Amino acid sequence: MKVLWGFDQKAIKEASKVIREGGLVVFPTETVYGLGTDAFNAMAVARIFEVKGRPRFDPLIVHVGWPEEVRRLCLKVDERAWRLIERFWPGPLTLVLPKRPEVPDIVTAGLRTVAVRMPSHPVALALIRESKTPVAAPSANTFGRLSPTRVEHVLGDLGEKVDLILDGGPCPIGVESTIVALEDGPRLLRPGGVPAEEIEEITGPLLKGGESRRPQAPGNLPSHYSPQTPLMVLREGMRLPEGRIGLLAFREPKGGPYAAVEVLSPRGDLKEAASRLFEALHRLDASGLDLIVAEPVPEEGLGRAIMDRLRKAQGRWKRG
Ligand code: TXA
Ligand code: MG
Repeated sequence: MKVLWGFDQKAIKEASKVIREGGLVVFPTETVYGLGTDAFNAMAVARIFEVKGRPRFDPLIVHVGWPEEVRRLCLKVDERAWRLIERFWPGPLTLVLPKRPEVPDIVTAGLRTVAVRMPSHPVALALIRESKTPVAAPSANTFGRLSPTRVEHVLGDLGEKVDLILDGGPCPIGVESTIVALEDGPRLLRPGGVPAEEIEEITGPLLKGGESRRPQAPGNLPSHYSPQTPLMVLREGMRLPEGRIGLLAFREPKGGPYAAVEVLSPRGDLKEAASRLFEALHRLDASGLDLIVAEPVPEEGLGRAIMDRLRKAQGRWKRG
């Protein structure tokens, strides 16, 4: 395994060769780092599941280098889908559309649909275009762990299990893409980098709660996006237990018995908070704490994606 600077053309050439030969490349996107390979190579995709320790029933997002490539993957790309593509691609919006039979079942975990997005990160785009094939990629973390937003996160987790890592520095958005299913919808399957309100300007009201409807997003288990340390969302008047407690604060640190504090955005900017979320959780997770308490953020714009990730992390701990 080696790490190369992703903004270097030679590195892109080398990485695309690895992809074409069915190897695994970790690459930066504007949301989080992805663990990618040729979406049409079923054996290579199987290795992604192995490396992540991810259950087979969890479908992957396929990343394309051009909007038109969606036709190689999907049947029936309707008017509404094109309007969303025109507005939000390249960028952190994933569309779930009926799949073509050529897309291997292992990519979609046997679903009739496939999730597709065109990332805006220059390194991701260069890699996909140079590979000349769509790239299937989940976030580059072991199953159930936090998504990586820096190369160091990847090295500390998957490290030697992959063939090549492209370093692109920190991911600018820092939370995963928004996922919208268009059939039987439009339905918001996962809040993320594009605020749902902006999507609704085009689609009208989105149906919510796709995650509990298993067949739509079987992989969207609550244990995703979780630190190893137990986490609780802070409530008014909540009594803290004994032990080493870390605080994930939104705007400013609160007084209290905290062994470690991370502030997401001193100016109260939800975009900035989202971009720092996983990084801050990674740091707290590495601080030898018994518990992380997270201050809630306003549930608007990217605040929804942040609260979604925090509640999932809390849910995992509550179930033990
Ligand atoms: O920002 C992102 O989306 C990042 C970067 C690397 O692109 N990727 C990412 O992938 O977050 P992953 O695998 O960690 O999350 C993909 C989510 C899963 O929850 C999965 O269930 C859902 O997408 N998904 C994939 N295909 C689907 C489908 N056909 N129908 C419904 N949900 C699907
Ligand atoms: Mg993930």
